[in-house]
Amino acid sequence: MTARFRIGFIGAGRMANIHAGHLQLEHDVTIVAAADIDADRAAGFTAQWGGAAYTDHRAMLDHEELDAVYICTPTATHARLGLDAAERDLHLFVEKPLDLDLAAATRLVHAVERRNLIAMTGFQWRYTEGYQRAAELIGDEPVALVNLRWYWTRPPIRWMWDRSQAGGQLVDQNIHLVDVSLGLAGPVDTVYAIYNERQANQEPEFLNWDAYAVTLHYRSGAVGVSASTYALFPEIQEPPAADFALRDRLVRVTDRGASLFVPSGVQEWPNSEPLHRGVNRAFIAALRAGDPKAVKTPLRSGLIATAVVLAANESAHTGQPVAVPALPESAPAGG
Ligand SMILES: NC(=O)c1ccc[n+]([C@@H]2O[C@H](COP(=O)([O-])OP(=O)(O)OC[C@H]3O[C@@H](n4cnc5c(N)ncnc54)[C@H](O)[C@@H]3O)[C@@H](O)[C@H]2O)c1
Repeated sequence: MTARFRIGFIGAGRMANIHAGHLQLEHDVTIVAAADIDADRAAGFTAQWGGAAYTDHRAMLDHEELDAVYICTPTATHARLGLDAAERDLHLFVEKPLDLDLAAATRLVHAVERRNLIAMTGFQWRYTEGYQRAAELIGDEPVALVNLRWYWTRPPIRWMWDRSQAGGQLVDQNIHLVDVSLGLAGPVDTVYAIYNERQANQEPEFLNWDAYAVTLHYRSGAVGVSASTYALFPEIQEPPAADFALRDRLVRVTDRGASLFVPSGVQEWPNSEPLHRGVNRAFIAALRAGDPKAVKTPLRSGLIATAVVLAANESAHTGQPVAVPALPESAPAGG
């Protein structure tokens, strides 16, 4: 008989439900429990996907026999909740960004690496066909310019209106494109950011920036810009896009696929499956393999991308370029 992987969720809101839907497609996965401080959320989730409902994640971790936990709570809680699960030797899927507190996020990364846990950051773009095609198209060729663009509206989830809880658009959303660029153009050394607020969104409860202009300097020599906004409307027909300019070629990754622009025309490779399918399939495949190295986006990759976007927030605050903390791409030998 195939072993079954017993999964628990901490946070049973929007993303938890999306991931649970994809986990249903895996033949050897059972959702055994969910913990949410909102009892109705926890009960609604387990009514749909199965398992026992809790309002305290520690009670769930103490009472349930689990193999892995999905952390799908507001960002500022990720490291604390993740550590509670890691200390019980549970494998982890952690939503991005890793946390708003880089020191706490670093402690979580060290804990999972010390225990050799399978631990993935929820960077679903990296598992799409479009990303993989773009990686093949770029290969080892030097990238000249990176352009990361995300046009969006006021977030549909209210706690994200508050930058002290979600970090602002760059930290909360465009971190996906920053991570795509780290994968395709290499590490970022320095950032310089200018944001504005109350240019577009006047609601008193909108405690956030409206627009984000960031310059990124990649160690490879590539230069990049990130332009993103909460000023627009959800029906906007321009998908978020990461552009990579190489000699005589432009490679574009969107949430719909990849494109190649060359002198003879444009070639497109649309994704054939929903955006969050690959990341969930890959997490369960890593559990089956029992191999932390099978994970393409370990928590360390989440830490590195989080360091870039938090450095941009610092730059917007100080008005100065900020050096991104130098973090090794793999666990230092000896832990
Ligand atoms: N990967 C993606 O595409 C993607 C998209 C959107 C959001 N996210 C990330 O996913 C995370 C969750 O976002 P969401 O959109 O699901 O938000 P949400 O508000 O829909 O869900 C969060 C849930 O966590 C619960 N919660 C809060 N504190 C808790 C605690 N201490 N213990 C247990 N439950 C707690 C809330 O009651 C809520 O039900 C965020 O970090 C967000 O940045 C990722």
